[in-house]
Amino acid sequence: MSTTDPMYYWDYLGLDEVLGSQRLVSGSGGREPAHDEMLFVVTHQAFELWFKQILWELESAIEDLAHEPVPEPLMGQVVHRIERIVAIQPLLVQQFHVLATMTPLDFLDFRDELIPASGFQSVQWRLIENRMGLPPTQRLRILGASYTSRLSEEHTRRLERSETEPTLLGVLDAWLARTPFLRFGDFDFWAAYRDVVETMLERDRRLIESNPSLDEVVRRQQLDAFETSCRTFEPLFDREQWDALRAQGKRRLSQEAFLAALLISLYRDEPALHLPYRLLTALVDLDEGFTAFRNAHAQLVHRTIGGRIGTGGTSGHEYLQAAARKHQVFTDLFDLATYHLPRKELPALPEDVREQMSFRYVD
Ligand code: HEM
Repeated sequence: MSTTDPMYYWDYLGLDEVLGSQRLVSGSGGREPAHDEMLFVVTHQAFELWFKQILWELESAIEDLAHEPVPEPLMGQVVHRIERIVAIQPLLVQQFHVLATMTPLDFLDFRDELIPASGFQSVQWRLIENRMGLPPTQRLRILGASYTSRLSEEHTRRLERSETEPTLLGVLDAWLARTPFLRFGDFDFWAAYRDVVETMLERDRRLIESNPSLDEVVRRQQLDAFETSCRTFEPLFDREQWDALRAQGKRRLSQEAFLAALLISLYRDEPALHLPYRLLTALVDLDEGFTAFRNAHAQLVHRTIGGRIGTGGTSGHEYLQAAARKHQVFTDLFDLATYHLPRKELPALPEDVREQMSFRYVD
């Protein structure tokens, strides 16, 4: 095609390559193809195309959020692009429902010919996980082996490189930790929040201690449970405890970043925090969308191969269900709700801080 030829739909979309890429193994060697293998191949290819789009958006969001400081127009763009991924995710779940019309017997017509290939080798999926911020140390290991152990050398190198690239979790952490409102003039959010929490906890303790309807055994049990819930607040005010939890992988964000996220979620009604709050919500939606993908996949695997091991050699649906829980990345943002206070108990923001957080339009 010369450069002066008019644009042609088929060529623009590369449909020779795309539509010529469904090569069924069951039809090779002069054998009858298994009817459902076409659905199996097309579905996987459709997933990989969406993974490509997701990576496109994810990488751009990471690049934008990595600016120090992030220019205001880019913030809106980051949120918009993450929300686009969130809009794609239900399509992925829906595709699993389409693939579920391939029954276990239909799959057995060609399954053995796929061994040892598996979605476990989806390089784009691993890139998504890595760029989201899932560290290699937090991954489930399969018979002691790394997630790259079944990949070609080229793909292993590509993934190892991606482990060193900026992640969405990493740039979010740095952006949150720079939040100017944590300490602002005379206002120290940390100290003000701590005062309110201590007063609230003291009040709750007294309620249990003076509740006339409790006998001594139940009162002791309730006080023990109460002490445990008090201890969940301690790491917020104690850097060493926080860092120890982080080292164990129980926290992913730095203490400053977590407190900034808490501030944003508590004072989200202030105009300057509208967009930051939308970003945090979009990230919770994003993480939840990937968990929905993992759960829908695990369910499909259960109904299609039952308790068999996978073609990639894992325990199959059991492994996938465990991965759905363990490979979540933004768990800290889900945990923020543990530390929320009712609006009426929130430390009041000093007038100058509120002023800074409001939008004013001047002629
Ligand atoms: C009947 C259809 C399917 C079956 C029976 C199936 C089975 C499995 C199994 C058993 C695993 C665990 C690794 C192994 O031992 O092989 C796995 C992993 C995986 N599959 Fe599928 N799968 C199916 C469809 C799909 C589709 C359509 C996709 C979309 C790309 C997909 C993507 C993945 C991914 C990304 C993993 C790695 C998950 C992880 O390690 O967390 N699978 N699959």
